Amino acid sequence: MNYIGSKHTLLPFLLKTIENVVGEDLSDKVFCDCFAGTGVVGKAFKPLVGKVISNDWERYSYVLNRNYIGNHLEMAGKEDYISYLNVLPAVDDGLIYAHYCKGSGSGRQYFSDENGKKIDAIRRQIEDWYVSGEISENMYFYLLCSLLESADKRANTASVYGAFLKEIKRTAAKPLVLESADYLVNDKEHEVFCEDANLLIKRISGDILYLDPPYNSRQYGANYHVLNTIAEYRPFVPKGKTGLRDYFRSSYCSKLTVLESFESLIQDAQFKFIILSYNNEGLMSQPDIERVMKKYGDYDFYSLQYQRFRADKEEKRNHHANRTTEYLHVLIKNI
Ligand SMILES: C[S@@+](CC[C@H](N)C(=O)[O-])C[C@H]1O[C@@H](n2cnc3c(N)ncnc32)[C@H](O)[C@@H]1O
Repeated sequence: MNYIGSKHTLLPFLLKTIENVVGEDLSDKVFCDCFAGTGVVGKAFKPLVGKVISNDWERYSYVLNRNYIGNHLEMAGKEDYISYLNVLPAVDDGLIYAHYCKGSGSGRQYFSDENGKKIDAIRRQIEDWYVSGEISENMYFYLLCSLLESADKRANTASVYGAFLKEIKRTAAKPLVLESADYLVNDKEHEVFCEDANLLIKRISGDILYLDPPYNSRQYGANYHVLNTIAEYRPFVPKGKTGLRDYFRSSYCSKLTVLESFESLIQDAQFKFIILSYNNEGLMSQPDIERVMKKYGDYDFYSLQYQRFRADKEEKRNHHANRTTEYLHVLIKNI
């Protein structure tokens, strides 16, 4: 998934830093990914640590993590369900077609008509199976995760769901194929939450706390609202041209509130090693972060400079690369 702030490309840097600070053998450690997004960090640590605790307050993210992290046992027949769902007849009275496809008269075009109707048919069938007891909770989240990932590949957007494209683009015109969202099978139990990180932190404890909050004012609930609709699939009144639904506003996305939230998170954390990802373009400055973290133990930071191509047209035209510095702020907390 093309996700704002995804740490996919920064995984080697994160892994190396954590091994430097904590040690190479992480097999008995409890690792918490507190702002988990796509789950890519939790996925990388799942085979290395004793337990992953994963959290993100967005429902779509919970679905991804509940599958990729929470599911850890083999599930017989899961591919058969995928095959069945792939040949379901489309329906034209579902939420996605009604609110996000042009043919329904919604005025929006996040998906082609055919794909919108197919998403509705699959989503409804998954719910029916779950409610009737045909499938387990683990299977439910595996199938939902498969649907979210597959639908996202057919979205008619430039990247996020803040707007849709006027014309159907090439990838959005292709028929949606439900692909299996395979997860790593291992013999360890993991935990997945869907809560405000500042509340959850008061109830959990462990060894390594990885923090990757939003850096800027872009709210995830607004940028991925369509995925929340597929995940929740309950009636709602879409607002305005983009069909936005109500969404959570994170205190990490405002200059006025970010430092206070960050400090209370650090203060409440019952973890010895706390690692924060942040870049040089974020709402908190490096000295701000250092000042807060230093109050609670030994602080250090590691940096990585990389070239990032900006998605805005002007810079693309000039093939201009932007140098971004990604920081890992490390606190060894006195607990
Ligand atoms: C930078 S992204 C994380 C990206 C993730 N590490 C990845 O690689 O996919 C920040 C995440 O924080 C979540 N978030 C923002 N405020 C939150 C809060 N108060 N509690 C829990 N999650 C929050 C957002 O939904 C978003 O997924």
